[in-house]
Amino acid sequence: MTYGKHYTPLEVANIVKDRALVLWRQMSSNNKPLVCDPSSGGGVFLEPDDVATDLDPNAPSVLDGRAKQLDFLLDDFPYEPDIFVGNPPFLYGGKIPKPYQTELYNRYKRGRRIDLCALFVWRTWELMKSPGLMAYICTNSICQGPNIQVLQDIIKQGGQILRVDKDIPWDKKSAAVTTTHLYIAK
Ligand SMILES: C[S@@+](CC[C@H](N)C(=O)[O-])C[C@H]1O[C@@H](n2cnc3c(N)ncnc32)[C@H](O)[C@@H]1O
Repeated sequence: MTYGKHYTPLEVANIVKDRALVLWRQMSSNNKPLVCDPSSGGGVFLEPDDVATDLDPNAPSVLDGRAKQLDFLLDDFPYEPDIFVGNPPFLYGGKIPKPYQTELYNRYKRGRRIDLCALFVWRTWELMKSPGLMAYICTNSICQGPNIQVLQDIIKQGGQILRVDKDIPWDKKSAAVTTTHLYIAK
């Protein structure tokens, strides 16, 4: 079972990845950063030297060997990326199936209404090196309700929110889903 599947439009993925690389160059002299997409699905963010994971054994990037199949929120993570980039699953906390919600609650103790996307942001923060960068496409709800606590905790621990682009339509065809692009440095 996998959750929150939506394929990211290529033009949006390119904008976020390009901005992440510009920010990285401003914070580090390492010009070969290891880039990881932890929820890579179709692999739209991936270039040949990047690493990736996805929960779904049938995700194209898993099937073609570019991504390892694992649960980013619950499994051990095998990489030490400089940059995390991607589009975490969009799923409101209340819609996460109960048994999985309980496992996530037991692991993160962050309340049962927190979105999967916000847990991805927190898990990424836990794994990030310093210097390190995350560049994620989230839903606008990342700045609302119980999710905002994650951003507050990151700031308390010294995280720097470098850039937030709010209210970005998911794709050209539909403005029904609006997203927030979030860039955080450690
Ligand atoms: C919004 S989609 C983005 C996919 C990708 N950017 C693309 O264009 O195909 C979210 C992805 O997160 C994956 N996913 C959901 N829960 C996950 C988890 N706990 N660990 C890793 N991947 C997960 C889904 O299988 C899905 O491929």
